[in-house]
Amino acid sequence: MFGVYLHIPFCSSKCDYCAFATWTDRHHLTEAYLDALTIEIARAVEAGLPTADTIFVGGGTPTLVPADLLAAVIATIPRTPDAEVTVECNPDDVTVEMLRSFVDGGVNRVSIGVQSMSAHVLEALGRTHDRDNVARAVDAARSVELPTFNLDVIYGAAGESVADWEATIDGVLALDPPHVSAYGLTVEAGTALAAQPARHPDDDDQADKYEAAESRLTAAGLANYEVSNWAKPGHESRHNFIYWRQQNYRGFGCAAHSHQDGRRWWNVRTPDRYIDLVAAARPVEASFEQLDVDQRRAEGQQLTLRTRDGVARSAFDPETLELVGEMVASHPTDPDRVVLTPAGRLMANEISVRLRD
Ligand SMILES: C[S@@+](CC[C@H](N)C(=O)[O-])C[C@H]1O[C@@H](n2cnc3c(N)ncnc32)[C@H](O)[C@@H]1O
Ligand code: SF4
Repeated sequence: MFGVYLHIPFCSSKCDYCAFATWTDRHHLTEAYLDALTIEIARAVEAGLPTADTIFVGGGTPTLVPADLLAAVIATIPRTPDAEVTVECNPDDVTVEMLRSFVDGGVNRVSIGVQSMSAHVLEALGRTHDRDNVARAVDAARSVELPTFNLDVIYGAAGESVADWEATIDGVLALDPPHVSAYGLTVEAGTALAAQPARHPDDDDQADKYEAAESRLTAAGLANYEVSNWAKPGHESRHNFIYWRQQNYRGFGCAAHSHQDGRRWWNVRTPDRYIDLVAAARPVEASFEQLDVDQRRAEGQQLTLRTRDGVARSAFDPETLELVGEMVASHPTDPDRVVLTPAGRLMANEISVRLRD
């Protein structure tokens, strides 16, 4: 499996919890940036870019750039006939015409950034949409017959009660999504949120919310397949699995990350620099790291432990398995493997540091 990621670094406003490489004052670069992406992709194709099994267009806010131009860029990426092609969408931007352009470019999945269905939580997160925008975006996705879509939600914002969160999950489920990603709000270094400890999420509160999400999503027929991801059967994101199974992927655009056989690299961070380097036909790689065999194995186990594949039972010492107790269970079909239980998923990081070296 081979994946392609395209980064779109523009946003209309900066959410104070977000550490992604995005800018609110560079919209004038849009066309030059899309041209640079097209050129970088064409050069990679010429140099033998593998055929993509999945393409993911993320950001930033891909729905801020003209949809027909973005679709034209996506259309230049060689892909298998049944490739999964996802675009991340902000609900307030989505229109039927936009999604039609995406479909014309081969897009067959959208990931909609819902975050919350509660007005005061959306305000606390600094979001510009409301729940009606979300319902309209989902209607639009259905009207263009997209075969699948995801809704992203975040739990743990300041002022969000457990009841608010339950109402968010229920509101999301009322839209009958095939896939939901629920992320605990993370305090990222360097963000405005990091400088305001009073607004930082509480671990116990987030654990209660995780359990509420797990029980409601599971009851609605969405099975957990990675700590933060639930899907109806057959609607799991294939792109996600490329990352978790340490397969190869190529990122295009500023700040995009790539991986090939243990070598990881990332592009220069700003769109300005990226455009200039592409125009000068110079490499856009900012830096790289080479993982050795042991690092790759350890990282691979940490990633797969977070998924429903779990790890070989032998990846833990017997004493560790005893210690983690009901936080792990036998894999449902493979007795030689273990998977995290819902209680274990809450402690995934703590458990993964106990994997054998
Ligand atoms: C980088 S955003 C891009 C998508 C789109 N611009 C949006 O915000 O909806 C992708 C997803 O990352 C998640 N995310 C971003 N920052 C986060 C944080 N600090 N903690 C938890 N989730 C976060 C959000 O759920 C968001 O939908
Ligand atoms: S969370 Fe999404 S909309 Fe907000 S700044 Fe980050 S990328 Fe932009």
